[in-house]
Amino acid sequence: MTHRMRHILAGLAGIAGLCVLTAAGRAADTTNNSNEGPPQTEGLTPPRQTWSFHGPFGKFDQAQLRRGFKVYHDVCGTCHSLNLVAFRDLADAGGTGFSEAEVKALAASYQIEDGPNEQGQMFKRAGRPSDDFPPPFPNPEAAKAVFGAAPPDMSDLAKARGFPRPFPLFVFDAFTQYQEQGPDYIVAILNGFTHPNDPNWNLYFPGHKIAMPRPLADGAVQYTDGTPPTLANYSRDVAAFLYWAAEPKLEARKATGFRVMVFLIVFATLLYFVKKRIWAGVAGH
Ligand code: HEC
Repeated sequence: MTHRMRHILAGLAGIAGLCVLTAAGRAADTTNNSNEGPPQTEGLTPPRQTWSFHGPFGKFDQAQLRRGFKVYHDVCGTCHSLNLVAFRDLADAGGTGFSEAEVKALAASYQIEDGPNEQGQMFKRAGRPSDDFPPPFPNPEAAKAVFGAAPPDMSDLAKARGFPRPFPLFVFDAFTQYQEQGPDYIVAILNGFTHPNDPNWNLYFPGHKIAMPRPLADGAVQYTDGTPPTLANYSRDVAAFLYWAAEPKLEARKATGFRVMVFLIVFATLLYFVKKRIWAGVAGH
């Protein structure tokens, strides 16, 4: 081995070592951060759920999205807004599969603030399919005044929330394409009200004190498709619906990703044979 090669190898080893060190450092950091406040409990990392939309071929389960929407509509929607979703989005392909008539009826059941009219006044009118879901509170401060903290908008909650997974788990997650920390976290929060005397104590909320009073229990929402009306089903269904709300084009994205991979594999194979052919005449190669 030449001197120069040894130099390069040492450099590469150094870089690899640095990567491992920073990764470990980051993992240690996150553990420290969540130690502010009450001591961290064992169960703080939300358990991993199985989802129909996991992995490169994952797809939403339409029946689940419809049930999840019902849970949002009947329960969560009284406090949490869904600002970036329009009624008509519910009819898009790869989603809840609402018919046009269902979307119209749903929109009309909401009152939307519009205006100003010629007198300069704002007024209320029945919703139209192109309207976004109206917020349950006029502004976040009004909600904060009631609960002590504003309920976050749910349009991208399922993608915005996650939790750090310690090294080396986050490395494996990249390979297994684990992207469902958000819905896992939502399921965990809804099942995390485990303190018998404190409705605001939550096992999975950072710091354990949550301003949201326990929103769901068995039997709280009527299901019409025969699915048992349990907290376990509500929480998974609404988390799936919120994941759709945050990423309505998931199926198209995964289909494109797959086509790109196929193209790259075919292209790489072709290049390999072209290379072989070009170098075929060169002796000793
Ligand atoms: C009575 C009002 C109310 C209802 C109903 C309600 N929430 Fe909340 N929610 C809140 C408030 C207030 C917060 C803010 C908590 C905090 O910051 O301490 C919150 C926070 C959350 C969080 C934590 C978000 C974060 O910042 O990490 C999740 C997840 C959540 N809600 C999900 C739901 C789901 C799902 C439903 C419907 C099943 C629901 N909520 C129904 C009031 C409500």
